Amino acid sequence: MSVHSWTSWRTEGSRLKSTAIACANQGLIKYWGKTDEALRVPSNGSISVCLAALTTRTTVEFSEAIAHDSLVLNQRPSNDPRVFKHLDRIRALAGSKMRARVVSENGFPPGVGFASSASGFAALTVSGVAAAGLAMPLPELSRLARLGSGSASRSIPGGFAELLAGDDLHSVAVRLAGPDDLDFRTLAVGVGESPKKVGSSEGMRITTATSPFFATRLEYLVGALDRMRAALRARNGTEVARLAEVDTLNMHATMLTSDPPLVYWSGATLDVIRAVLALREAGTQAYFSIDAGENVFVNCRQQDVTAVRERLGGLASVSSVIESAPGGPARLVEDHLF
Ligand code: PMV
Repeated sequence: MSVHSWTSWRTEGSRLKSTAIACANQGLIKYWGKTDEALRVPSNGSISVCLAALTTRTTVEFSEAIAHDSLVLNQRPSNDPRVFKHLDRIRALAGSKMRARVVSENGFPPGVGFASSASGFAALTVSGVAAAGLAMPLPELSRLARLGSGSASRSIPGGFAELLAGDDLHSVAVRLAGPDDLDFRTLAVGVGESPKKVGSSEGMRITTATSPFFATRLEYLVGALDRMRAALRARNGTEVARLAEVDTLNMHATMLTSDPPLVYWSGATLDVIRAVLALREAGTQAYFSIDAGENVFVNCRQQDVTAVRERLGGLASVSSVIESAPGGPARLVEDHLF
């Protein structure tokens, strides 16, 4: 069902329930820094690829019979205030006071250490908006997802998407290429399960306030975004992967030069980086990409997946390798009208 037909679901005063699935995404030109923290307006435009193998499935049910908002995350009760705040945003838009029951499951193995806030907030936005009976065009849906988690906005259109910089209303995600447009595969390489010590919101605050390289990064990003858009237009997956590695090192340079320093890498992260460099020296076009954590994405062409996987699987510090094709948009999978 398309988002445009959601109006037809509105049933005043009744109980509505919807389920949505959304993919996680990998920053290719990464987002690190905000100009408005409360509204999560990013300092820079960013480009990502959705990951078909890393998904979250979320059901939201609004009902007058529900006394309190509740959340069950991966079969465990949770009190994540960001989720309840997001429900408040949806209620405000719908002019509703109904409380909600939210059940969310990650479709990737727990503990592999890949962040689920992008897939989680994209799935929550789509299911919540549908359950509230709201009609919302895609840009608004992606803006709403951004208020929950910046990177979640890019999981709404799916494929290769750009979250535009700009003010609150204009910072929305648009699709630059579809999931099947490029020869592009990602290996999500898990090396650690421990939660990061400095979350991304606090990390961004520290970097923007203290890194002497942050202003230089913003200047570099103008050209970096242009080069990434051009590589996507040319359907050149290897160039996309190469530019994502360049941007990884640029972003982590601002993190490493923050005060206090933000060192998201572990020894195992460096093992994977070295293995990727060795693969390249031996002629395999594989490139690493790292968000705010110790785990690593390795991007390559489909024909090279087996060779890359064998090399990485042989590292003692690697605990899991999940292969992913580019993923599609966030979508409703079920709707229940009571
Ligand atoms: O997921 P968020 O909104 O807290 O932002 C994290 C941003 C990075 O993952 C570090 C980079 C990116 O562009 O995804």
